[in-house]
Amino acid sequence: MAAGGRLLASFLLLVSCFAQTSYGIVLFSSLQRTLVVTASHKQGVLKAGEDTITVTWGLNQSIPSGTDSGYKTIQFKLCYGPISQLDRAWRKTVDNLDKDRTCQFKMVAIANPHTSANQTFDWLIGLDVPTATYFVRAYAYDSEGISVAYGQNTDAQKTSNLIAIQGITGRHLSIYVSSMCFSAFSVLSLVGFFYLEKRRVRMSQQK
Ligand SMILES: *[C@@H]1O[C@H](CO)[C@@H](O)[C@H](O)[C@H]1NC(C)=O
Ligand SMILES: *[C@@H]1O[C@H](CO)[C@@H](O)[C@H](O)[C@H]1NC(C)=O
Repeated sequence: MAAGGRLLASFLLLVSCFAQTSYGIVLFSSLQRTLVVTASHKQGVLKAGEDTITVTWGLNQSIPSGTDSGYKTIQFKLCYGPISQLDRAWRKTVDNLDKDRTCQFKMVAIANPHTSANQTFDWLIGLDVPTATYFVRAYAYDSEGISVAYGQNTDAQKTSNLIAIQGITGRHLSIYVSSMCFSAFSVLSLVGFFYLEKRRVRMSQQK
């Protein structure tokens, strides 16, 4: 019995070690850059909640064919540029992808991607994106959800093609809030209207 328990314990330990090594740490520096990603948008500073970014992506044609056969999902993310990470530990770049805080905004995820031709999608900048400079990165994941490759619309030092975005705070947060109040008000007046209407019907029936 005791021997069985010990065997089970060591088996569990083995499994957890295996899980540790295979699912634990993925370093960004270990990923292959196989995807070519470009982002186009209107000139100047883009506005969260209003402007769109058009992302075009494909497999780098000089990568040996079949390299991408294990790509099950490609996730596109909006990531902080170096200037917007200064003195902000909560946006820090860490090689261990579990701890990396560079790419906080999910754009689009594509399942079973076809990489034989370039593809494009438009992304409306989310209302939660704060004022900062960004770039677009794509992570390719295998069938176990482990990132195996990437691509980005900027160079390795993250200096070119950065995208400046103005967040909603301070811009038209007041308009946004007042429009929310307005819709709350319209809901209230609608409720009030129905109530009055019902009462009128009731009163005319009593006559
Ligand atoms: C494609 O891959 C080659 C070889 O790795 C590299 O030299 C080239 O810069 C890549 N092209 C793009 C657009 O990333
Ligand atoms: C995809 O786009 C890149 C540039 O963005 C271009 O160099 C490449 O030839 C295109 N590939 C295909 C298959 O159209």
